[in-house]
Amino acid sequence: MLIREWLISSGLPREDAELILAHALKKDRPFLVTHDFEKIESHALKSANFFKKQRLSGLPLAYILKSKNFYGRDFYVDRRVLIPRPESETIIDLAKQGTYKNILDLGTGSGCLAITLKLELKDATVTASDLSNSALNVARKNAKNLKANVKFVHSDLLDYFLKHRQKFDLIVANLPYVDKNWDWLDLNSLKHEPALALFSERGTALQSQFISVILKNRQTLLAENFTILLESDPTTHLELIDLIKKADPSRKIETTGFILKVS
Ligand SMILES: C[S@@+](CC[C@H](N)C(=O)[O-])C[C@H]1O[C@@H](n2cnc3c(N)ncnc32)[C@H](O)[C@@H]1O
Repeated sequence: MLIREWLISSGLPREDAELILAHALKKDRPFLVTHDFEKIESHALKSANFFKKQRLSGLPLAYILKSKNFYGRDFYVDRRVLIPRPESETIIDLAKQGTYKNILDLGTGSGCLAITLKLELKDATVTASDLSNSALNVARKNAKNLKANVKFVHSDLLDYFLKHRQKFDLIVANLPYVDKNWDWLDLNSLKHEPALALFSERGTALQSQFISVILKNRQTLLAENFTILLESDPTTHLELIDLIKKADPSRKIETTGFILKVS
């Protein structure tokens, strides 16, 4: 079969078809344009048809390509980690507005936030943690691929850091914040990603826990001047702001997109 024939007959949207075929051929997309009358070798055709089937059954493209771009860099992803979302890039933009020495990324998943922060804010020391050991293995692989010096630790929320009495001046946290019972939610679109990365009771259970622990232990965990960048669904912002104000009325709270900035 010729490249152009496969692309026309795949049944996929054009962009998905091109990305999948280029991946199967181990080439880039422009190659398809310049070689559209070329025959696809049988092993590449087999791969392309297998990936096509996966895509048609709903597997996200990022898991098929084993790659997702985040803040201009390609991260390895597979079903052990959440696929990085564009709304989380705001965390990097906000972090770049300040100067930080010790950064913690809580719930690092693929490592996209921790690694990007290390590469963008070169002088900072960056630590990243997750409850999932398999996610930490993906994050370590990304740090190696992208040559980012990040320390990874296994921790249930802040447990490790409370034990080791480590202080941070920036904590970023994109913890799970989806409530399975939200009626506007398309659960089907999330079924391939790890439940541990997505779901939290009422959408705020984990974040509420994080907020109370961090503000109760600020002498142990936080530098005198600190910033917390917390991602959550905008429908839960008011609830979280209320909680923060009750725990510490002196905090300044701002929202940008999905991100709550507490300082
Ligand atoms: C929404 S994903 C975010 C991943 C990544 N930071 C990103 O922005 O793409 C949430 C991550 O939090 C981790 N997680 C869930 N519960 C946790 C807990 N109690 N303590 C630490 N990490 C947790 C999950 O394993 C998952 O990797």
